[in-house]
Amino acid sequence: MKLHAFKIRIQVFLYLTSSQPFSKGEGQEEVLSFGEDLGEVLIQQVKSNHMETILNLQQVSKTYKSGSRVLTVLDNVSFAVQAGSALSIVGPSGSGKTTLLGLCAGLDRSSSGNVELQHMQLEVLNEDQLASVRNKYVGFIFQNFQLMPTLTALENVMVPLELRGEKKVRARSMDLLDKVGLADRSHHYPAQLSGGEQQRVSIARAFANRPRILFADEPTGNLDAETSGKIVNLIFDLNKEAGTTLLLVTHNAELAARTQRIIHLKGGKIVADKPTTTTVSNI
Ligand SMILES: Nc1ncnc2c1ncn2[C@@H]1O[C@H](COP(=O)(O)OP(=O)(O)OP(=O)(O)O)[C@@H](O)[C@H]1O
Ligand SMILES: [Mg+2]
Repeated sequence: MKLHAFKIRIQVFLYLTSSQPFSKGEGQEEVLSFGEDLGEVLIQQVKSNHMETILNLQQVSKTYKSGSRVLTVLDNVSFAVQAGSALSIVGPSGSGKTTLLGLCAGLDRSSSGNVELQHMQLEVLNEDQLASVRNKYVGFIFQNFQLMPTLTALENVMVPLELRGEKKVRARSMDLLDKVGLADRSHHYPAQLSGGEQQRVSIARAFANRPRILFADEPTGNLDAETSGKIVNLIFDLNKEAGTTLLLVTHNAELAARTQRIIHLKGGKIVADKPTTTTVSNI
């Protein structure tokens, strides 16, 4: 496991320092010639040079083929996100918001262009490496929750922590469920929970690995005003206290106004990318 993580780091280093993009095969060969200590030193240097940007998209497109037709869902999207900042992505239904979040988080792959997350070029990583990056750095609140139906609420929250080999997994997961107001539902299966309760389990799970970057797709879409207010405060506390970078997709103008920047998507293109002018203290 340690060696595996080390290999990813060396690949990242090689990518960032090479003037020519390298293929996976070339990266694998180079891995064998570095010692672990050297790898750590090099990756720290790379990190310090790229400290300010946690996410960088360059001309990212996503297309789907449907018979002979090509559907362009994202069209040459470029933007960079500063570590510790909070931004919203807004736009009409079908404009590509969920697709964009999935690409940024390494859940899906672009058709062309580059996505760099936490100093790593996602295109050059294989599926295992992507999973490792997600588990280490990313929290994701899914629009449709994506809970495992055969696991209880508590077990769903425990999964990312167990994957990381952490200790006191059960206690920490209970604490997270308590924070989202679901301590008394911990042994319920997703099918036994309401939409809003499932959303809160998904939020607790996204917080579990103390992510450096949190992607939240309509995080309050299924919540009443009071619960929504509490959850939003939890999300922004994470941003302030732990320096977690936030990317929120929302149709809620007041929620968007709480972030520092709003990107408008339309038809898969960025049509506006502006700092937020209005400040709303709470919703
Ligand atoms: N796997 C897929 N195959 C084909 N088309 C897809 C696929 N996934 C998404 N799309 C299309 O991509 C477009 C963008 O979808 P996406 O879910 O990103 O929109 P959205 O902005 O999140 O919308 P909403 O606000 O309704 O959640 C839609 O037209 C959708 O039908
Ligand atoms: Mg969506």
